[in-house]
Amino acid sequence: MATTLQINGASIQVAAAPDTPLLWVLRDELGLTGTKYGCGIAQCGACTVHANGKAIRSCQAPIGSLVGVKITTIEGLGGVHPVQAAWIKRDVPQCGYCQSGQIMSAAALLAATPKPTDADIDAAMSGNICRCGTYQRIRAAIKDAAGVTVA
Ligand code: FES
Ligand code: FES
Repeated sequence: MATTLQINGASIQVAAAPDTPLLWVLRDELGLTGTKYGCGIAQCGACTVHANGKAIRSCQAPIGSLVGVKITTIEGLGGVHPVQAAWIKRDVPQCGYCQSGQIMSAAALLAATPKPTDADIDAAMSGNICRCGTYQRIRAAIKDAAGVTVA
């Protein structure tokens, strides 16, 4: 039986079983490959998407638990989100693998906390791992997007 999900503003029927993690449905069934597979056990943040505006790990979110929930993926930001503009300005990515998850966590942070402190940023971003060590540029870009950049 199909499950109906709300993804990036569209109502979409998916064939996968209700216990299938959202990440697999996004990538393999819907072709939304901007969301990445890193660890599969909610430890790296590469698979971060929004569920009703909150950052969640899609590798650990069964689609059966997401019926009626508004899901937004990196594709849903449209390339025009202020966080994405700040990322470009700060030239944040290196290999890029973690970056869609980083951007989704940052966007959720700023939606809930428009003027975040360093502690707010640390708390919101601590679950997103970057093997390339782009953390300083991520922090600067979040402050740019929030309009709280000092330098
Ligand atoms: S792939 Fe989901 S947290 Fe790592
Ligand atoms: S940019 Fe390479 S893992 Fe973050």
